[in-house]
Amino acid sequence: MNQDELKTLVGQAALHYVPPGEIIGVGTGSTVNKFIDALAGMKDRIRGAVSSSQASTARLQALGIPVFDCNEVGELAVYIDGADEIDPHGHMVKGGGAALTREKIVAAQSRQFVCIADDSKRVQTLGKFPLPVEVIPMASARVARQFAALGGQGRLRLVNGVPLVTDNGQHILDVTGLQIADPLAFEALVNLWPGVVEVGVFAHQKAAVCLLGTAQGVQTLVY
Ligand code: 5RP
Repeated sequence: MNQDELKTLVGQAALHYVPPGEIIGVGTGSTVNKFIDALAGMKDRIRGAVSSSQASTARLQALGIPVFDCNEVGELAVYIDGADEIDPHGHMVKGGGAALTREKIVAAQSRQFVCIADDSKRVQTLGKFPLPVEVIPMASARVARQFAALGGQGRLRLVNGVPLVTDNGQHILDVTGLQIADPLAFEALVNLWPGVVEVGVFAHQKAAVCLLGTAQGVQTLVY
C-alpha cells in the first residue's frame, strides 16, 4: 500500500471512535481529509464537528456536516487529527499544515485525542521534522534567536516568497536541529517565550490512541 492508501485506511478506521449523536473535534491535513470524507457517510448519525482550520471547515461544510464554533459547545468526546511525528509515549509534533494553535485548542476541549497517521510518522525522539511554531510577526527574529541558543535553526515559512499567514493572522517558524528529549518540559518552556502563540509540540495534549497505517493493516497504539 502506498502512503495515500494508508491514510485512507486510518481515516476510515477512525470512524469507530466517533460516538453517535455527538459533536466531534476534527483536525487538519491530508490524513484528516480522508477521515472527513469517510465521516460524510455517517453524517446523519452525528450532530456535527468543531474544526481546527478554515480548510477543514470548508471540506466539512461541502460534505453537509454542520460546523460549530468552539465557544458554542462544551467538552467534546473525541478529537481526531493527524501528526507530523509521534513518539512511543503519544507525544507529537504537529503544525505541518500551519493549524497547530487551533488544533491544540480543540484537542484541549476534547476528552480523547485519536491520532491517525501512516507509520512514517513514528519516531523514537521528536525533532527530526522541522518544528512548527506560530509566532506574532514582530517577534519572529527574536524567537528564532531563542531557538538558536538551544541549537535550533528557525526559518520563517514562506509561500510564494512571502511569509505564510495562519488562520489567526500570524506567522510560522519552522525549527530544525532540535532533539526534543523531554517534550513536556520543552512545550512548557517555549510557550513562555514572548511572541510565541503556540509551539507544535503536543505533549500536554498528547494522543490517547494512535491508529497507525502499516503494510500489515491498522495498528492501534494506546498510551
Ligand atoms: C496540520 C497538522 C497535520 O495533522 C500534520 O501536518 C499531518 O498532516 P498530514 O496528515 O497531511 O500528513 O498538524 O497543522
